[in-house]
Amino acid sequence: MPGVYDCAESPAGLRWRLQECGLPPLPTASALWSRLFPELHTLPACAPVNASLHPLRAGTHDSGSGWVATPFLCDSFIHDSTPVYPGALGVLLSGPHLPFSIEAIVDVCLEERVPVLLTFWGDPTPYVARAHAAGVKVIDQVGSVQGAQRAAQAGVDAVVAQGVEAGGHLAGEVGTVALVPRVVDAVAPIPVAAAGGIADARGLVAALALGAQAIMIGTRRIATTEAYAHSVYKQKILEANEDQTVRTTLFGFGWPNAPHRTLRTPFVERWLPEEQRGSEQRPDEPTIGETKIGGQTVPLQRFMGFPPTPDASGDLDSMDYLAGQGVGLVNEIKPAAEVVRELIEGAGHILSTLTKEPEL
Ligand SMILES: Cc1cc2nc3c(=O)[nH]c(=O)nc-3n(C[C@H](O)[C@H](O)[C@H](O)COP(=O)(O)O)c2cc1C
Repeated sequence: MPGVYDCAESPAGLRWRLQECGLPPLPTASALWSRLFPELHTLPACAPVNASLHPLRAGTHDSGSGWVATPFLCDSFIHDSTPVYPGALGVLLSGPHLPFSIEAIVDVCLEERVPVLLTFWGDPTPYVARAHAAGVKVIDQVGSVQGAQRAAQAGVDAVVAQGVEAGGHLAGEVGTVALVPRVVDAVAPIPVAAAGGIADARGLVAALALGAQAIMIGTRRIATTEAYAHSVYKQKILEANEDQTVRTTLFGFGWPNAPHRTLRTPFVERWLPEEQRGSEQRPDEPTIGETKIGGQTVPLQRFMGFPPTPDASGDLDSMDYLAGQGVGLVNEIKPAAEVVRELIEGAGHILSTLTKEPEL
C-alpha cells in the first residue's frame, strides 16, 4: 500500500503527507484514522464550494479539511473561521470574472497566514512566491495537463485534478479517470488530489489507484447536516441521478461563459436551448428572489450562479443547483464527519478485499 499520508499517532493527529511539502497539520479525522486504518494513509478533503454555502461550517474536526471560497467574504470568513477550524483553512481565488480584487483577497489571506491558498480558474503564478514568503502553501485546481504543468512551473505545493464530472465550475473537459493519472505523471513528484464524481469509498480507492494522494469532494458535501445549503437543494441532491446534471454556461450572470455543472431542473431544461442568454448580463433580467451575502440582503437576478442557501427566498425553482455526476451516489443527508468516516472505513474494507489472497 503506497504511503499517502503520514498517519502516525501524535498529538497533532493525522498529518497529511502533503506535509512533506511543509503543509501544517490538519486537525481532522486523526484519531479515527489512526485507530481504524493504520495501513490506509489518505484523507478526503471537502471541496471548496461557493462562499454562500459556508463550507467551513460543514468542516468539523472529523469531517475532512475545509476550504473557503473567498469571493465576497474573505476577511470575515477568515476571522470568523479561524477558531472553528484552525490549521485547515484554505482560501479559494476564483478567477478574473468576479467583481472584486483578487489582490486584496490575497493580501488579507497572507496577512492572516492562512495555511493554504487554493487557487482555481486562472494562473497561480503571481501568487506562489508571495504565499511562500508568507509561509502559506498553494494548491491549484486544474482541469487539464496543460493547467497542471503551468501550476507545477509556478511552484505550487500540490495540484487538484478536477474531472469534468465535478459539480460547480469546471476547469476542463476530461473525465477524472483519464485526467488524474496524466496529471500525476505531468507534475510528479508534486502531490495530486483527485476531484470529480467521487462520492463514496469506491471512488476514493479508484482515485488512489489512479495515483492521486487525496480526494476532494464537493457534491457529497452538500447533503450533509452542516452544509449551509437550502433544504430544497439538499433534497434535490438526494433525488437526482448521474444523468440529471449538465455542463453548461447558463448561470452566467456575473460570471459569463464559464462552464459549470448543475442539476438539469425544469428551469434549466427550459433555457438550455437559449443557453447563451444566461451570459448576456441583461440589466433588465428579472429579479427572482433574494439571499444574504456577508450578512447583507442582496437581490438575485435570473441566471445568477448562487446555489440557494437557507437565506435564499423567492423563485427557488429558477436557481442554480450546482452538482456533479456523483450525485446519483448521494442518497442520505448525514453529518459530514459520518460521510468522511464511511469513506475511510469503506476504502479500508475495499482495499483489504482487493488484496486478499484468493482461496483455492
Ligand atoms: C456547490 C458547489 C460549489 C462549488 N464552488 C466552487 C468554488 O467556488 N470554487 C472552486 O474552486 N470549486 C468549486 N466547486 C468545485 C469543487 O472544487 C470540486 O472540483 C468539485 O466539487 C469536485 O467534484 P464533485 O462535486 O463531484 O465532488 C464547487 C462544487 C460544488 C458542488
